[in-house]
Order: sequence, then C-alpha cells, then structure tokens
Amino acid sequence: MKSIQNFKKIKLRDSKFTMITCYDYSFAKIIADSNIDMVLVGDSAAMVMHGFKNTVPATIEMMEYHVSSVARGLNGKFLVGDMPFLEHRKNKKQTMNSIDTLMKAGANAIKIEGGQNHTKIIKYIVDSGVPIMGHLGLTPQSVNALGGWKLQGNSKIEAEKIFEDAMKLERSGVFAIVLEMIPEKLAKKITENLKIPTIGIGAGAYTSGQVLVLQDLLGMSNKFNPSFARKYLNGYDLIKNAIDNFHDDVRRGSFPGKKEIIK
Ligand code: KIV
Repeated sequence: MKSIQNFKKIKLRDSKFTMITCYDYSFAKIIADSNIDMVLVGDSAAMVMHGFKNTVPATIEMMEYHVSSVARGLNGKFLVGDMPFLEHRKNKKQTMNSIDTLMKAGANAIKIEGGQNHTKIIKYIVDSGVPIMGHLGLTPQSVNALGGWKLQGNSKIEAEKIFEDAMKLERSGVFAIVLEMIPEKLAKKITENLKIPTIGIGAGAYTSGQVLVLQDLLGMSNKFNPSFARKYLNGYDLIKNAIDNFHDDVRRGSFPGKKEIIK
C-alpha cells in the first residue's frame, strides 16, 4: 500500500499520481487490481449513489457505509474518506467520534473541505495521528454560500484567499490538498509554493495529481458531462445496451439457452 510519505516523494520526483472516487465493493475490487494510486470515498456519494442535488445531505452514517464497503474490496489500496458537511464544525468530541467512525470503517486518511476557519481542529486531528487531506476552491459542501457550481479564485482577492488558505492548511499539517475548479495559473502557483502535493479537479495541468469521479470517467450519465472531466468509456450506452439485450433475449426466447439451463 502507498502511504502519505509516498505521495510526498512522488511530488519531489516531479511525477504525477492519480485518485478516483469509489462508493461500493464491486467497483473497489476492480480498482484494487488497477494502477490507481489512491481512492476517495467522496461525499459526492450523496449525489452519485443517492440522487441528492448536492453533497449537503451526506451524513456520517452514509459515509461509514460507503467507506466500509469500498475498504472491503480495495485490498489495501490507500483510501481517503470524506468528512460530511459540518461534521468538523460541531464540537471536538463529535468531530473526533466521526473521524474515529470513518477510520474504523477502513479509511487511511480523511478529507476535510475548506480552509480558513478549520486549521485549529485540523491540527488537533493531525496531532492525534490521522492524516488529513485538505480541499480548496469549489468546495461542494459550501455550494449554497458560493452561489453555485462555478470557477473559484477568479478575482485577485479570491485568488489570494485560496492561496493563503493553502499555506495555512500546509502549516496545520495536511498531507495533500484537493484544488477544485480554480484557474490553472492559481493551481500552479499553489503547487509550486507548497511542499505537500496538490490534487486537481478542474484546476488545469500543473497539480501534483489528478482526481476524477469514477462515474464521470466511466461516462455513466448521458446528461452530466463536466467540461473538465474526460470520459474513458461510454458506460451509459454500454450498460443500457447490455440490459436491453437481456430483455430482448428473454422476449424472443433465446435466454436461457441450453448452456444456461442447470441439469
Ligand atoms: O466528494 C468528492 O467526490 C470530491 C472530489 C470531487 C474531489 O470531493
């Protein structure tokens, strides 16, 4: 299994690493056999697996369920679990209980969204022996405050704030930072000024690693095609066709065939 030390070394070697999201055991088993460096059980589970409009409805129970399902299939690949909305803003005891829940479910590290006001609690968690990944730029849990799904850090003031937050997060001990939907120039500047690696999604080509949502990479939706993602499979058509083929075979009497009948 790769460790947080490996990811720092990959950045020092000036090479790139990969992360994808995963939410269930069957995909986790495939990812376990792939070359992907690390896996994120993102709170995007609330949208991708549960059909909510945003990630706000994710709960610690939901995340525990998905983290443990993925951990059982990953065969030891590095697994990051997402802290759901507000879970680290309640009180220290509840925050630590939630961290404990996700770590016991099989996470090797926890991702926490946001910067400026969380550094004290992040430092406390890191000092307790839990690797923390930061997340800046478009932080989906704050979609209501940010006014929608749009590029962040476009103005000088916003860009400076994201840059300062990244520096603060590094000082509070995070081992990596996800940079989501910020200008490439800003992501490059942050990456060059941090010792820890950055992981980009919609943040251009200069981050230390890249992350994609598994379902985007597999083309599982025929409607949602974010411009920053690349489809490596036309999953929607392939899966729909397979299901329709089964339906047609049953209708025309060709399934089950001789080989599929147990004797
Ligand atoms: O929840 C998630 O899937 C994420 C990634 C988009 C980085 O935070």
